Amino acid sequence: MLSADIRQSFLNFFQGREHLVLPSSSLVPHGDPSVLLTTAGMQQFKPIFMGQADPPSPRVTTVQKCFRTVDLEEVGDDSHLTFFEMLGNFSFGDYFKDGAIELAWEFLTRELGLDPNRLFPTVHPSDDEAAAIWLRVIGREPHRLEDNFWPANLEGWIGPCGPDSEIYWDWGPAVGCGQADCRPGHCDRFLEVWNLVFMQFDRAPDGSRKPLARTGVDTGMGLERLAAVVLAQERGSTVPVSFYETDLFKGLVDGFMVEPEGGWGPGAPAFVSRLCADHSRGVAFLVADGVRPGNEGRGYILRKMIRRATLHALRTLKRPGALSGEGALPRPGREHLENPGGIGVARVIAEMGDVHPELKRPGIVATVRAEEVAFETTLAQGQREFEAVVARSSGIISGADAFRLHDTLGFPVELTTELAAEAGLGVDRAGFEAALAEQRQMSRRAAKRNPIPRTGLPRTEFVGHESLNGAGTVLRLFAGDTEVEVAAEGDEVELYLDRTPFYAEGGGQVGDIGIIEGPEGTVEVLDVQKQGEAFAHYGKVASGRLVVGQEVTAEVDREARWATMRHHSATHLLHRALRQVLGETTHQQGSYVGPDTCTFDFNLSRAVAPGELHAIFTIVNRAVRDDIERVTRVMPVDEAKATGAMSLFGEKYGDLVRVVSFDDFSVELCGGTHVDRTGQIGLVTPVRESSVGAGVRRIEFLAGEAAERRVRDLQDAALTAAGRLNVKPVDLPRRVDALLDERKALLKQVDDLKRAAVLGRDAATGRGVVTGP
Ligand code: SER
Repeated sequence: MLSADIRQSFLNFFQGREHLVLPSSSLVPHGDPSVLLTTAGMQQFKPIFMGQADPPSPRVTTVQKCFRTVDLEEVGDDSHLTFFEMLGNFSFGDYFKDGAIELAWEFLTRELGLDPNRLFPTVHPSDDEAAAIWLRVIGREPHRLEDNFWPANLEGWIGPCGPDSEIYWDWGPAVGCGQADCRPGHCDRFLEVWNLVFMQFDRAPDGSRKPLARTGVDTGMGLERLAAVVLAQERGSTVPVSFYETDLFKGLVDGFMVEPEGGWGPGAPAFVSRLCADHSRGVAFLVADGVRPGNEGRGYILRKMIRRATLHALRTLKRPGALSGEGALPRPGREHLENPGGIGVARVIAEMGDVHPELKRPGIVATVRAEEVAFETTLAQGQREFEAVVARSSGIISGADAFRLHDTLGFPVELTTELAAEAGLGVDRAGFEAALAEQRQMSRRAAKRNPIPRTGLPRTEFVGHESLNGAGTVLRLFAGDTEVEVAAEGDEVELYLDRTPFYAEGGGQVGDIGIIEGPEGTVEVLDVQKQGEAFAHYGKVASGRLVVGQEVTAEVDREARWATMRHHSATHLLHRALRQVLGETTHQQGSYVGPDTCTFDFNLSRAVAPGELHAIFTIVNRAVRDDIERVTRVMPVDEAKATGAMSLFGEKYGDLVRVVSFDDFSVELCGGTHVDRTGQIGLVTPVRESSVGAGVRRIEFLAGEAAERRVRDLQDAALTAAGRLNVKPVDLPRRVDALLDERKALLKQVDDLKRAAVLGRDAATGRGVVTGP
């Protein structure tokens, strides 16, 4: 059975059971700030589940284009994909668990004829209802799995969620652990094929759940996996069949597999062909949906994929222009071997353009080709540079070198890591991240401007407490110091929107960075400052142009913002811990809260003792592990003071203030942005404690990934030093002290010997030592 038949029979099956067939939505989600790309079939239906929109029909079915990047680095093996098609059926307040389970079983076993004895359902441990239904439908108890909840990782998730029931395919006892009691979710023997989600809850940004406005069903089954299972059954295979063997990929992979003259280059050709096949699909579909190569967000994902595939196609397959398919010309006499049906993106368009007509939009191959050519030309030079770096690195490529490859040659660090591994080297990722952060910091400093006072600015509505991206309209625009209607590529701009998710510097927290995408161009935002009640976004038009009045999408750099929020929430915990250890007279005197680091100033007329510092951070990290939920309330300032909220120094508040509490552990007036739960902070670690003026001390500290990097760096340094000295890391100080003493003694000896030598020489020459004028 071909994949096209499976796709069609799915739609027909559900259409025949009163489901309305709807088209896939774009890979670029509209109006959903919680994700960069469409990752699930239910995404376009979120507003329906939440009761904000009416369903076009109580039952719907789709084949949704999805894109997941979590495992991007793994692509090329047998089981990871970026782009895939998800078959789904949805009920909005219509059938629930009963209907979903019965329909799924009927489709798999009757319509597709899969062997029921090789299909194993699972349910959430709490879901007796679903378990009873399965028992009735198939006469077997389903397995219960703790992670049968969707989405599995709720961090940052806003909206519909619920317990699910999954259906697994059993490859057979020869695969995986070989244990008699092996079950779904245990090892590779069982492959998850279909996920039936029973939508029941609406998750708020603060992590709380309430019943969903409209319960229902959301199912999702990857077409690629299903096609592999169908093929396995057709072949009677008892070993796993990869989706790369199905007709969805076969021609694409084979197109890359033709042996080049002179033999294969470094790297396994099968791995590289699979990688290029996956990336051809991913790249083709992203470009078809309007994504363009860039340095941020979706644009960066696309750029990374084009560069990775281009590099491998050149090195291993020795085929320039292979990814786009346009540059790889067949060699005379080998046409029949080389490209029957084309390769790369061109082949994806030819094979899938009928099912996904957006692939027929003009310019897709040309867009990919332009980026491909640009990277191919820098690669020759990059390769030499890379080899020079390898030659001078022993064991590890330094962060500075990795950064230079990234900065000047466009080598994404993941690519450097991959190539380094082939050469038996590691990459100092922490050093790379530090160099990157420093560059960001520098461009932030360069971009930071003292706002030029402007008049008549409109108030900006800040939506960045709830979401990290959102639509807005460009109300005012300045290029340089002049107010303009249009800003062109390369212009330094200051722009104002009616509404923005970008945080403007305030309360110690730095302004957000990110991108603003208009219909004709993109602005890279490097800083945001307040002008009264208006938010000035400072940045540069990275491509195209921006025009006053345009509708734009403002997208905050998620990683930077989360890093900042971790630091900000950590300062609140630190404030409380300081008062517990140093006394309630300790007050905040100021702070810097950025993505890279964080400082907290407070009044104290002496240094904090090392033991006190330990105690303070022990309290902070305990509060992190307690995973305390944040509650934010907006209330009149007097009421807020009555709650005992610590008021921050020198801040001016309007009548209504935000009170941010982590239980009663910490209650503060604060307009900044914060994590939902303290557990999201991860780890908090001090860097140094110092004086910043009479009676004021400063603690610099790190949270989250920055803290993790620091701990890792210190640990690496300690382990290396301990290895060299052949002692345990805890014995390092003692050993170093002993060495220093030894050194002192040796230097003294050298000195004595020198003196003796001089004396001896003087004695030999009979000259005395001159001791005075
Ligand atoms: N939303 C679920 C998933 O993505 C089922 O469609 O797995």
